[in-house]
Amino acid sequence: MTELAEKLYNTGDLSDSELKALIETDNSETAELLRRYADETRQKSYGKKVFLRGLIEVSSYCRNDCLYCGIRRSNKEADRYRLSREEIMSCCENGYGLGFRTFVMQGGEDSFFTDDFMCSVISEIKEKYPDCAVTLSLGERSYDSYKRMKEAGADRYLLRHEAASEELYSKLHPAEMSLAHRKECLFQLRELGYQVGAGFMVGAPYQTTDHIIADLRFLQELRPQMIGIGPFVPHHNTPFAEESGGTLALTLRLLGILRLMFPKVLLPATTALGTIAPNGRELGLKTGCNVVMPNLSPVKVRKKYDLYDNKICTGEEAAECRGCLQRRIESAGYEVSAERGDCI
Ligand code: 5AD
Ligand code: FES
Repeated sequence: MTELAEKLYNTGDLSDSELKALIETDNSETAELLRRYADETRQKSYGKKVFLRGLIEVSSYCRNDCLYCGIRRSNKEADRYRLSREEIMSCCENGYGLGFRTFVMQGGEDSFFTDDFMCSVISEIKEKYPDCAVTLSLGERSYDSYKRMKEAGADRYLLRHEAASEELYSKLHPAEMSLAHRKECLFQLRELGYQVGAGFMVGAPYQTTDHIIADLRFLQELRPQMIGIGPFVPHHNTPFAEESGGTLALTLRLLGILRLMFPKVLLPATTALGTIAPNGRELGLKTGCNVVMPNLSPVKVRKKYDLYDNKICTGEEAAECRGCLQRRIESAGYEVSAERGDCI
C-alpha cells in the first residue's frame, strides 16, 4: 500500500482501483507516508504558511432541507437569527484588527439577503478594507445574482458540491434539489471569475468508496481553487440523528490524497474536523491543510448556527478563536500568514 502513496506523490493521480485501495486501507504506515508526502507537497508551494479566514455566519434561516443539516427548514426547533448590516460590518472591523484579510460571509439560503442587500454590504467591505478578500458562501443563487455580487467586489465563493454521485446526492437532499443544478452553479461561478471552493462531507450516510472516488473525479474536472472537506457529524434534530459520523482516520487520508492530487489547492482544516477530535485541526495541518477559518460571528448567535452536534467555537470562551488557532497552528509547527492567501 505504501507504493500507492508513493505513486500518487510522484504522479498526482491513480486509477480508480488504486484510489479505492488507498482510501480503504487502515495501514498505519501508509497513513504516515501519505501525511509526510502531503506535508512536503504543501511546503513546496506554501511553505509553513497557514491562511486565516474570518468566518461570519450571517444567517441561520434556510429555505433548503438537506437531510444532514441542523438548520434545514424542517427543523422547527432551530433558533433562527440573521445579522444586520451593522453587525456584519462590526464583525469585519473586529476581524481586521485581529489581522484577518479574508472575510467569509456564510449562511443558509435566506431570501432576506437579496442581491441589493448583499451587493451593498460587499461594496462597503471592499471600500473600507481594500486589501481584503470577500468570500461568499450563500448556497445556490441565480447566475445574475452571482454576477452582480462579483461586480460589487466579491472575490471567492464556497459551494460544496456535497456528493458528485447522483445516487448519493439524492439520498442526502430533498427531491427538489438537484446535483445538476449544483454543478451548474459551480461552473457559472468559475466562469464569472470567482475563485471557487467545492467539497463534500466524509462518512456521510450511505457514502461508499465509489462515491468518494466520484467526488475526486468531479474535483479534477472542476479544478477549484479551494476544497472543503470535513467529517459528517450527526445533528439530533435531523433524519440522520442516529447515523454514525465520519472518522478522523478517513478524513485525514482523504486530506492527504487531496493534497497530492491538487498540490496548490487551498485546503482548510475544518471546524468539523476539530469537533470530532480535540487535535483534529492540527492533524489536518500536518496532513496538507493550509487554511483555517476561525469563527468571527458575534458570540450571542454562535450556538444558533447549529449545523451539527457539539460544534466547537460556540461558547463564551471562544470569543477569540484567533488567538486559540494561532497557538494551535504554531504548536503544529506552522505559522500564521498575514496575507490575503490567494491560490497560487
Ligand atoms: N456534519 C458535517 N458537515 C455538515 N455540513 C452541513 N451539515 C453538516 C453535518 N451534519 C456542511 C455541509 C455544508 C457546510 C456549510 O457544512 O457540507 O456545505
Ligand atoms: Fe475557536 Fe479554538 S479556534 S475556540
